[in-house]
Amino acid sequence: MPRSPVPVLTIDGPSGSGKGTVSRLLAQALGWHLLDSGALYRAVGYAASMAGIDLSDAEAVTRCAETTRIHFRDPGDGGETRVIVNGHDASDEIRTETCGAAASAIAAIPSVRTALLDLQRGFRRAPGLVADGRDMGTVIFPDAATKVFLTASAAERARRRYKQLKAKGLDVTLAALLHEIEARDARDASRAVAPLRPAPNAVVIDTTGVPAQTVADRVLTLLRDR
Ligand code: C5P
Repeated sequence: MPRSPVPVLTIDGPSGSGKGTVSRLLAQALGWHLLDSGALYRAVGYAASMAGIDLSDAEAVTRCAETTRIHFRDPGDGGETRVIVNGHDASDEIRTETCGAAASAIAAIPSVRTALLDLQRGFRRAPGLVADGRDMGTVIFPDAATKVFLTASAAERARRRYKQLKAKGLDVTLAALLHEIEARDARDASRAVAPLRPAPNAVVIDTTGVPAQTVADRVLTLLRDR
């Protein structure tokens, strides 16, 4: 595959590994675009649930993935990017654990992943892209020059999710989150298509106990040393 002139930095890893925060810091520091691919799977899971579609009905969910209109809107005040699904601001709804589980279920359907391929690759625009997900380095941008895979212990990841969700005012317990995270990891890592695993040329960084800014600085050093 010829190398595209637009650089891509892929940040993959399991839920709660710090991908989201680190990717945002990196996109800001570099002045690059940001792709939150998990939000796309969440948006499709949300749209399918809202339409009353059985999430195990691969054909119906694929149709939903092909027709759902998803776009990101920068609020312009430095706040979190809004996720608009079929014209409705679903930013808060898609962040719930129920939606995370729906996303993980529909993400295991190969034709759903195919339906989202071009949309994701379309985010590669100058001056560069930070791509956050599970298969950014393995499937979506295999030619990316710099690939990072973040990990952290399940307990730490559950604690981070707990803080994030509590801050959004959601009613969650740490034990339930740990259980949910372990189940989602197992499903994401064992699926037949695009299972969660580092690309062979990815740099693996354990973020347990490491502040997001420190992780981002390490990645910036990696990027500059290439
Ligand atoms: O990263 P986030 O928790 O928002 O992702 C939600 C779910 O979407 C993941 O558990 C995973 O199943 C799926 N996903 C995926 N491939 C990606 C991003 C997310 O399969 N690139």
